[in-house]
Amino acid sequence: MAVTQFKQLQAHLDSQVIGQATLTQSILIALLADGHLLVEGPPGLAKTRAVNALSDGIEADFHRVQFTPDLLPADLTGTDIYRPETGQFIFQKGPLFHNLVLADEINRAPAKVQSALLEAMAERQITVGNTTYPLPELFLVMATQNPLEQEGTYPLPEAQLDRFLMHVEIDYPGADTELEILRLTRGEAIKTPSKIVDKLSQLDINKARLDIMNMHVSESLETYIVQLIMATRKPAGYSDSLAQWIEIGASPRATIALERCARAHAWLAGRDFVAPDDVQAVVHNVLRHRIILSYQAQAEGVNANKVLDEILALVPTA
Ligand SMILES: Nc1ncnc2c1ncn2[C@@H]1O[C@H](COP(=O)(O)OP(=O)(O)OP(=O)(O)O)[C@@H](O)[C@H]1O
Ligand SMILES: [Mg+2]
Repeated sequence: MAVTQFKQLQAHLDSQVIGQATLTQSILIALLADGHLLVEGPPGLAKTRAVNALSDGIEADFHRVQFTPDLLPADLTGTDIYRPETGQFIFQKGPLFHNLVLADEINRAPAKVQSALLEAMAERQITVGNTTYPLPELFLVMATQNPLEQEGTYPLPEAQLDRFLMHVEIDYPGADTELEILRLTRGEAIKTPSKIVDKLSQLDINKARLDIMNMHVSESLETYIVQLIMATRKPAGYSDSLAQWIEIGASPRATIALERCARAHAWLAGRDFVAPDDVQAVVHNVLRHRIILSYQAQAEGVNANKVLDEILALVPTA
């Protein structure tokens, strides 16, 4: 069954990226739900390593782009280049024309570069001049953001954050994990790292995606998902503190994302139906970046995670 292949891929990711199960699971969910990831955390936490490990495990090419203040949209999309021999312009594809794109430190590039990336993510095509070029069918962007570095950065506008299927927070590992990382990387310096044997093909991925979209979702679960979203939009109906904390709630894109991620989560667990547990397991990563908190929430030190915990506690399960 296809799910065992994905379980192997997950085991491969977890053997390469130690103690970051949320990150590795989110990468798989994004792959299965056909969405993009925004990863926020301090430097050196194996973000590059995780995408590398994924590209080892699937039939896909991989490219990393470092975002800098002088990056131009054409540096991402590609550009028409003049060929004097023929007197014609030829389109030279940019780094976005890869299956896996790691967009590192996305908030260090100005708005027009960010929007070129976000437009490509949503439209899955790139227009240069009068011609439109489709991006590969398998197209997953993992963008990273560093919370330590606020000065001289360009925070992504909320409307653009909505384009990311999930927003994943990662943090430093504990002492035991740190020791494991030390030993693993030391071992790799002496011998070549173990490679996964069977690469998942793009056909396998497409089949899995189809399976997932065909899974059964009960009417009561649909209602649960919708009620969670409604609680972000009309928080006053749930509690006074929620109403004070939330400025703007989640969009319909969030509703769709929540269902798709819950499906992928259930499928990865080997089930053929989606349960409230699946929704609860993904809800923080799906909604964290899509609700705008009030000044009062910020003043009280309340973050999106706490708001979502409160919503989960107040909305009755299906
Ligand atoms: N959880 C982990 N498992 C295995 N190796 C790790 C882990 N965390 C860090 N490392 C090791 O730390 C080093 C940095 O990893 P990597 O370059 O992937 O980090 P990064 O998050 O991409 O960093 P940056 O933010 O600077 O781009 C690598 O040598 C990597 O092997
Ligand atoms: Mg990196």
